[in-house]
Amino acid sequence: MSPSVKILPDSETLSRVAAEHFVAAAKEAVSRSDRFAVALSGGSTPRETYTLLASRTFAAHVPWAKVHAFWGDERCVPPDHADSNYWLARETLLRHVPIPPDHIHRMRGEMDPLEAAREYEERLQRFFTIASEEPATPRFDLVLLGMGADGHTASLFPRSEALRESQRWVVAQRLEPHGAWRLTLTPIAINAARRVTFLASGQEKAWALREVLEGSPQPERLPAQAIRPSDGRLAWLVDAPAASLLAAA
Ligand code: 6PG
Repeated sequence: MSPSVKILPDSETLSRVAAEHFVAAAKEAVSRSDRFAVALSGGSTPRETYTLLASRTFAAHVPWAKVHAFWGDERCVPPDHADSNYWLARETLLRHVPIPPDHIHRMRGEMDPLEAAREYEERLQRFFTIASEEPATPRFDLVLLGMGADGHTASLFPRSEALRESQRWVVAQRLEPHGAWRLTLTPIAINAARRVTFLASGQEKAWALREVLEGSPQPERLPAQAIRPSDGRLAWLVDAPAASLLAAA
């Protein structure tokens, strides 16, 4: 199924539409399975969306008691570190809404990266195992993703081994050249989702967006192209500056 691409006039409208999208996905999931398992994105783009979701306009419309918050990736830093994706979501959203504390499933960036990846994989296995005889599938109801100017998404960077991972749902990655460690869902885990929605804002994303959506398939060079839900809906919510190089714009 080809992705749906919605072009919004500016980043403020993008954030509002993304918040509406989150609410709709939450309601749909809860009516279907009495829970909403969402993997949150890091980076700066979703900040305003999270803030809106915590506001009076939106918060009352989300069944927070049924929401389970996960992350698509995490930096290997303590949970209260300014670079932590958990900290971003906690400060802008999670501490302001009545989500049960045990429904917040953060990647433990403070742990040894390899151990943290194993621990998160086990957490996902437990959460998504329906019946013992069925192999678990990390069927998130929604995975929110951003995209870097180089076409990376989550912590799937160009030419990274995680792009070729065929078994694991969560891996630790050491980023060159600074050597920082990251934890990330692999394409296998993301592509099992019912919905995957990218948010992209700003002129600096225009080249990557055109290459990803309209260029030749090169997921090794453009990891966002590796995101193709096998039985789910793929959507892009982008603003006009990010869409400025699209032929279809
Ligand atoms: C992260 C994100 C990363 C992010 C993109 C876009 O941990 O930083 O997972 O994939 O979504 O780099 O970042 P901006 O939203 O800041 O442009």
